[in-house]
Amino acid sequence: MLIQEREFLKSEGDEWFKRNIHKFAENSPEISILCNWLMPFQKEVQTILEIGSGGGNKLSQMCWQLNSKGHGIDPSNLAVDYANKNYGDKCIFEIGTADSLPSQLEKFDLIHFGFCLYLVSRDRITDCLKQADLLLKPGRFLSIIDFDPQKPHVNEYVHFKGLKSYKDNYYKMFCDLGNYTLVNKYSFSEGNHYFSLDSSVRTSLTLLFKEK
Ligand SMILES: C[S@@+](CC[C@H](N)C(=O)[O-])C[C@H]1O[C@@H](n2cnc3c(N)ncnc32)[C@H](O)[C@@H]1O
Repeated sequence: MLIQEREFLKSEGDEWFKRNIHKFAENSPEISILCNWLMPFQKEVQTILEIGSGGGNKLSQMCWQLNSKGHGIDPSNLAVDYANKNYGDKCIFEIGTADSLPSQLEKFDLIHFGFCLYLVSRDRITDCLKQADLLLKPGRFLSIIDFDPQKPHVNEYVHFKGLKSYKDNYYKMFCDLGNYTLVNKYSFSEGNHYFSLDSSVRTSLTLLFKEK
């Protein structure tokens, strides 16, 4: 079995970046919704960590809308270089994976996962949740944009033979830790800004609060 993290560090992170670079100039409507939800708490959201930050455009958008400082982590060299060059005024980016984050990170006011957790190896997912939890200040927020299937299932990752897409309800996993409360959920789908009757294409944005 391929170790997903190793493949993303080696090549698939860069391949994702090359396939998607043409989209980075667009603002994301989901990120705008997230920032609107967080606007009443803007003063509390001084620092944001995005895990799986890709080209850095989403983190940059969050930092502009919330007037925050950002830190992005991604396994792709190309993505990290691009993000530091283009969004380095409010954010810094470095290489890493969700199960093995850089050790010197301070705690953050908001941690965001955008279509990242579905790529994490199953034997590392618990570790990823724990590492994110350790890096989030109590009384602050965590947000997730990811697939939102009715039932968890595994698909082939279409861009790389042998890798998997693990479609699961990641916000529930954080809630199951016991100290997270679901604040808001926006259901949409691949290609549409509304809930899909077909559970296989459902995605969602969730905002969670870490209780003190
Ligand atoms: C679908 S892209 C999403 C990028 C960005 N978050 C967004 O929403 O546009 C997934 C990103 O996660 C990165 N990635 C893959 N596996 C990862 C892991 N185990 N830990 C952190 N990032 C990972 C990939 O390199 C890629 O940049």
